Amino acid sequence: MNQSSFLPPIEKSRAGPVVKWAGGKKALIAQFAPHFPAPGTYRRYFEPFLGGAAVFFYLQPERSFLFDLNAQLIEVYHVIRDDVEGLIAALKVHRNAPDYFYEIRAQNPVELRPAERAARFIFLNRTCYNGLYRVNRQGQFNVPFGRYKNPTICDEPGLRAASAALQNAHLEVADFEIVLSLAEPGDLIYFDPPYEPLSLTSSFTSYTSNGFSSDDQRRLAATYRTLDSRGCLLMLSNSSAPLIYDLYSGFHIHEISARRAINSKPDGRGAITELLITNF
Ligand SMILES: C[S@@+](CC[C@H](N)C(=O)[O-])C[C@H]1O[C@@H](n2cnc3c(N)ncnc32)[C@H](O)[C@@H]1O
Repeated sequence: MNQSSFLPPIEKSRAGPVVKWAGGKKALIAQFAPHFPAPGTYRRYFEPFLGGAAVFFYLQPERSFLFDLNAQLIEVYHVIRDDVEGLIAALKVHRNAPDYFYEIRAQNPVELRPAERAARFIFLNRTCYNGLYRVNRQGQFNVPFGRYKNPTICDEPGLRAASAALQNAHLEVADFEIVLSLAEPGDLIYFDPPYEPLSLTSSFTSYTSNGFSSDDQRRLAATYRTLDSRGCLLMLSNSSAPLIYDLYSGFHIHEISARRAINSKPDGRGAITELLITNF
């Protein structure tokens, strides 16, 4: 079935990221657009480092397989897909005030119902400092209050549009290598891993409680090469670190100019070169 036959066009055009996410690709989509394969020229869509899902929401492919190692994040997408009205109701309870923020942050999410847990995640994400996601060794979210004047906590039309876009998506908590056991010739896969740091101090690798090491970058490049020989269509974002040029030599390496919104150092903001690596 063609997606346009079950998604009202207005909702489809409105769907976009529902969480702020480090490394989110929303601002880069215009530069990516000329590199995406035309709709209808690939089979299924895979995104194994989902994060804020900016590319998925832009493409809204007919059949998609979406993964991330962050279990709380994947649960949020499950709830958006399957219980968006329950989520909206649970989000409407929240308000942007410091004492309230710390009270909600201190809750044990395990004791909440899925819609409440997803609402707590989105609330903390929208009202915390810089939209960061960071947990301590016990896995507890520990980002401070963000002091925004009027953050959008419950974007009802945006959530409904995201829910419509996700109806046909498979969502799962998994390491990126899962694509090796699922992807077939003609499938499109977009990889957006935590970036290889340009220097040791610019590292921002705490998306989950584990970082993403240079060995993980090598494991990812080996995955990319295997899927290339299988006949998959591949796109991958990464930093312009020397290791990345090395690991992907022989593929098409496009340089993209990016402004980073989340950075560990305020003076680290500004235009930097990132890479988009394709095999077509
Ligand atoms: C750069 S972010 C993706 C940003 C996303 N493209 C967006 O537009 O918001 C990287 C994501 O990879 C996830 N991740 C880290 N290690 C992973 C692994 N080994 N397998 C799968 N996902 C992983 C993180 O939880 C994080 O959400």
